Amino acid sequence: MPIKLTVNNVVATVDVPPDTPLLWVLREVLNLTGTKYSCGIGVCGACTVLVGGRAVRSCMTPVGAVGSETVTTIEGLSPDGLHPVQAAWEALDVPQCGYCQAGQILSATALLARTPHPTDAEIDAAMSGNLCRCGTYPRIRQAIHQAANAGQATEAGARASEK
Ligand code: FES
Ligand code: FES
Repeated sequence: MPIKLTVNNVVATVDVPPDTPLLWVLREVLNLTGTKYSCGIGVCGACTVLVGGRAVRSCMTPVGAVGSETVTTIEGLSPDGLHPVQAAWEALDVPQCGYCQAGQILSATALLARTPHPTDAEIDAAMSGNLCRCGTYPRIRQAIHQAANAGQATEAGARASEK
């Protein structure tokens, strides 16, 4: 039976078995290839997307389990690639080969949504499931702090303009 999904604010109907991994649907059916396949067993984080705002491993998520929750992939995080996390990633030149980075950015986005000003320990705990063979971890941590500070500046600016 066809399954209805909302991906990056677009409703799509896909005709696949409900136990098909969400990753396959994103990449092979919807052609959203920014989400990467690496381990396929839930341990590397390369396939991370947001489902209902939570970072999930799309290789381990059956498409039939998504239900009405919205899916966000790296392609849909912002219309112009200027989400604060993406801006910090670019400013600090975080990626090396880049393969893991879509997953890193989406995990960081989920972290900042629930913890706007994380400590180093909170960053390390939240990001521990996203592996980077290029070892970009120090820049990832720095970029998360930078995105958090950018969020703080935006909040302060909004408060000032309300006065
Ligand atoms: S490909 Fe999904 S966790 Fe590695
Ligand atoms: S940038 Fe190469 S695996 Fe992370």
